[in-house]
Amino acid sequence: MDKLLIEGGVPLAGTITISGAKNAALPILAGTLLATRPVTISNVPHLKDVATTLTLLQKMGVIVTMDDRLNVEVNAAEVRERRAPYELVKTMRASILVLGPLVARFGEAYVSLPGGCAIGARPVNLHVDGLRAMGAAVDVENGFIHARAKRLHGAHIVFDTVTVTGTENLMMAATLADGKTVLENAAREPEVTDLARFLMGLGARIQGAGTSTIVIEGVDALGGGEHRVLPDRIETGTYLVAAAMTGGKVKLNKTDPNILEAVLGKLREAGANLQLGDDWIELDMQGKRPRAVNIRTLPYPAFPTDMQAQFCAMNAMADGVGTVTETVFENRFQHVLELQRMGADIRIEHNMAIITGIPRLTAAPVMATDLRASAGLVLAGLAAEGETLVDRIYHVDRGYERIEEKLQQLGARIRRVP
Ligand code: EPU
Repeated sequence: MDKLLIEGGVPLAGTITISGAKNAALPILAGTLLATRPVTISNVPHLKDVATTLTLLQKMGVIVTMDDRLNVEVNAAEVRERRAPYELVKTMRASILVLGPLVARFGEAYVSLPGGCAIGARPVNLHVDGLRAMGAAVDVENGFIHARAKRLHGAHIVFDTVTVTGTENLMMAATLADGKTVLENAAREPEVTDLARFLMGLGARIQGAGTSTIVIEGVDALGGGEHRVLPDRIETGTYLVAAAMTGGKVKLNKTDPNILEAVLGKLREAGANLQLGDDWIELDMQGKRPRAVNIRTLPYPAFPTDMQAQFCAMNAMADGVGTVTETVFENRFQHVLELQRMGADIRIEHNMAIITGIPRLTAAPVMATDLRASAGLVLAGLAAEGETLVDRIYHVDRGYERIEEKLQQLGARIRRVP
């Protein structure tokens, strides 16, 4: 199993390119199941979760081809299997995103029920309730969600909780339903909007994506099209925090400053000097130690839970005391125990971490437990004194494209070791 070996203490400096967003690419790839003609998707990040999604599509009979510039062409004209097997779903919960498209287009889906997760219970009841409201019969049999409907019909759905993939699943299902579907208290994440843009390019009729009320007018069929995946705001934020923690200066290209305002605001509060262009962000820390900041995670446009671990790492070496309150997932503080092994002074009270910054973290062998927790540990290693070994980095590879290469480009002393 690969590990990352990091010699901390180098202020990051230089320019890198941000990849396409994982959490937009996954629903868009699932959404290709709705299209009767070929679809070309560009700016697809080269990640483990993307590979898993492509394998899932191929197992269903979808033809997937990739050109040398990593444009992915998906042809779902023929789909013989309507099943997402446990072996794939257990490695990637986002597999649940095929549920809506399969029932909507083929009238039937078997999707393994995702099990527990390192960051919380993560049920999918809202996905299932929504499909039932649209007329599907849904049972859980032998660990599988079995959904059937001759043709889904439109419905008025008010989500109890803001759910990103729940919104995406039902929005996709509604594109082929009979009549109008209204999704209220819908997720407003930029990735939901990007998925809507993709679906509209195939001929779907969607209004209001990016707001909390999305209205979908069902059509009989979706054709083919082309789409470029939006930049990854979490990858962007992660590299910005890395620069802030090391007192560095970095420029990130091919990103979008307009989709991470809450994160940029907190970085300014921490003392970072930011310059923004249309598709680039430059952060200059001028060699300073960041100031501690208070964070509260909430659905978009507020501060993202997927940046929480990285800010815990920053607060751990910042000047002052910062609180980090997690309101989206109930168990997303596993990185805290590892950060404590690097000397961090963190106390957890219910869903709040109270972090008193120390001048310098010290290197230690640490273990990644989930994707963003592992990003937090890599950042801590970059800022720490000594050599940090981050184990179980398959979690990192699920969501960060060539992380060690990008960090090396910024001057970090980091390498992958077997
Ligand atoms: N929830 C329910 N019932 C449901 C669905 C969700 O109670 O049917 C609860 C969850 O348990 C959680 C809250 O609602 O407490 C929000 O979860 P949500 O459904 O929004 O999360 P998700 O769609 O499973 C996506 C991202 C996550 C990101 C969250 C929150 C994808 C593929 N995943 O997950 O990304 O943390 O939204 O923004 O888009 C990551 O990239 O590392 C990651 C975990």
